[in-house]
Amino acid sequence: MITNQETGTRVDEVAAGVYRICTPLDVIPGGFTFNSYLIADDEPLLFHTGYRKLSSITLEAISKVMPVEKLRWIGGSHFEGDEYGALNDLLAAAPEATPFGAEIGVLTSLNDFAARPARGLGDGEEFAIGSRRMKWLYTPHVPHGWDCGILFDLFTQTLLCGDLFTQPGANLAPVTESEVLTASEGMRGMMDYYAHATSTSATLERLAGLGPTLLACQHGSAYRGDGAALIRELAAAIESGSAKLSQPPRALTA
Ligand SMILES: [Fe+2]
Ligand SMILES: [Fe+2]
Repeated sequence: MITNQETGTRVDEVAAGVYRICTPLDVIPGGFTFNSYLIADDEPLLFHTGYRKLSSITLEAISKVMPVEKLRWIGGSHFEGDEYGALNDLLAAAPEATPFGAEIGVLTSLNDFAARPARGLGDGEEFAIGSRRMKWLYTPHVPHGWDCGILFDLFTQTLLCGDLFTQPGANLAPVTESEVLTASEGMRGMMDYYAHATSTSATLERLAGLGPTLLACQHGSAYRGDGAALIRELAAAIESGSAKLSQPPRALTA
């Protein structure tokens, strides 16, 4: 469903009760998508707020699924504009919502930025939002950010995997069953957005161990299939250095 004709924002249910809110932006040649995921349950949860400047667009999209004021949890993978920029506008629209993120992210950024105190989640922490349980895994520096973490919906086996498997392009299907690694490796080669952490392989293996059946990427299509296998392929590609930069990252040369 298109929720805003001007921006091309759309909402699609990509797993039971998991709604992908997608806004394309012309930030790189060929376009790029910014996704938030709304999980509808007794205590509705939003993962990634989108940019502050798009807050009215994101609020409009949420309102097509449920009343915005019912939101109870608003979080993100790590503290950047596309993950948390609209947080305070959303908190204003949803008076009962609590921000959340990694414990270290709450300490370094969230509790300074957010209009209300945030909940810091510990590695492996689970919490119920109604009929389903969510699990937080702390993934420091993978792909980037000391405060980086991901959220796993144990009910639908959906990994809200943030900037992992980032794919370029504006007109991508909400969900694909074709692998997304080739496209995301092209992006990694172009932008070098990984932190080159020594713990990367071990962290990715922990995520693979969850056995996700849907990889809900923040940028690009969600991937339905053997998520563990694709994560292990990513780890192998990183280990082999197959996406080594052939030229300086575009962000530095622009
Ligand atoms: Fe990021
Ligand atoms: Fe992002």
